[in-house]
Amino acid sequence: MVEEGVLMVREFDPEKDCLGVEDVERRCEVGPSGKMSLFTDLLGDPVCRIRHSPTFLMLVAETGDEKEIVGLIRGCIKTVTCGKKLSRNGKNTNDLSKPLPVYTKVAYILGLRVSPSHRRMGIGLKLVSRMEKWFSENGAEYSYIATDNDNQASVKLFTDRCGYAKFRTPSILVQPVFAHRVNVPKRVTILRLAPSDAETLYRRRFSTTEFFPRDIDTVLNNKLNLGTYIAVPAGTYCNESWPGVDKFLSDSPESWAVLSVWNSKAVFMLEVRGASPLRRGLAKITRIVDRAFPWLRIPSVPEVFRPFGLHFLYGLGGDGPQSVRLMKALCGFAHNMAKESGCGVVATEVSSHEPLRLGIPHWKRLSCDEDLWCMKRLGEDYSDGSVGDWTKSPPGLTIFVDPREF
Ligand SMILES: CC(C)(COP(=O)(O)OP(=O)(O)OC[C@H]1O[C@@H](n2cnc3c(N)ncnc32)[C@H](O)[C@@H]1OP(=O)(O)O)[C@@H](O)C(=O)NCCC(=O)NCCS
Repeated sequence: MVEEGVLMVREFDPEKDCLGVEDVERRCEVGPSGKMSLFTDLLGDPVCRIRHSPTFLMLVAETGDEKEIVGLIRGCIKTVTCGKKLSRNGKNTNDLSKPLPVYTKVAYILGLRVSPSHRRMGIGLKLVSRMEKWFSENGAEYSYIATDNDNQASVKLFTDRCGYAKFRTPSILVQPVFAHRVNVPKRVTILRLAPSDAETLYRRRFSTTEFFPRDIDTVLNNKLNLGTYIAVPAGTYCNESWPGVDKFLSDSPESWAVLSVWNSKAVFMLEVRGASPLRRGLAKITRIVDRAFPWLRIPSVPEVFRPFGLHFLYGLGGDGPQSVRLMKALCGFAHNMAKESGCGVVATEVSSHEPLRLGIPHWKRLSCDEDLWCMKRLGEDYSDGSVGDWTKSPPGLTIFVDPREF
């Protein structure tokens, strides 16, 4: 164990800690050593993955003697849906059956790193408990983390030592961006919604979805948000005949689908390291051929062996018998957007039970079937009364993954 006084946990100071933090990040390889692994370049801003959240904090662990940074942790807090209840508004009998969201303040831990030279000394544990203290002081009722199911150190730290329970296992679906454009069927019309229309649509149709952020308007108006797109069967509307979101919701077409696009490329870059020269060579050949003959639509491997960016798809939803087909068209449209922006991949994260996932193209090899979310109830004074202990609730069909935290 690291003795008290020998190690200090304090708030990250952007003036003097950037180099030390970068050094820890570089030395912490997430993924099995000796195999291919994914590196994240935070573009010189260690706080970039939390700075768009309403409340956030980054802590560093520093040795007392040499003032060396040996550990770090990031956390953020926001208000999200944890369940639903039936409306008790007696004035309008229609309202009685309308489910309303139950909100709670939830905290999220990400980017926990301890230098390999200082592991198994209790530093990770200390960083987590200091972060949880800050969560509780700021009114958070739950704390959760997402980790790779195979990351034994992280799973054991949170479940065995910090009291977290395995909670959800959504899937991260990743599709490479090809050198050719993907065909978007003519039988589908895709319209871009104004942020205010998108907000109304999400609040009315998605606010009872688990993890729906109460400040969805802030998300949609963020400069990283590249737009919300809705797909309907061709002939339903065009840009000129879009009736407005109120009419759309009161008289929806039989089938529709929606998604929003987030520009993660402006936040961080990724790089696949450790690939053999043979693998890199084969990937390059597919790319050259795809670029030379785009009409052949060869599913080529993008240049992931040097830094590449991604677009994140979120707020996926829809209704009706053709919604899977419409979602597929939206994903094709989003692929072409990502291609124009020079991204390497398009990614999304959905519930393992998500009915629309059949319409989300992805490569299994690049995706993660079970991203393990572990959760802990922090206090005894809850706002989720009618829902009970959220950590014990069964998973729903869908989940809202906040693009600010991907
Ligand atoms: C996960 C990580 C932060 C743990 O940091 P750490 O300072 O070594 O952890 P601690 O010393 O506080 O360990 C606390 C407990 O976690 C568990 N644990 C930590 N590392 C473990 C390992 N390699 N194998 C099994 N259990 C482990 C143990 O229960 C341990 O208690 P013990 O030492 O009394 O048995 C560190 O291994 C790391 O930086 N890994 C790479 C980055 C990463 O995976 N981050 C997590 C993403 S969410």
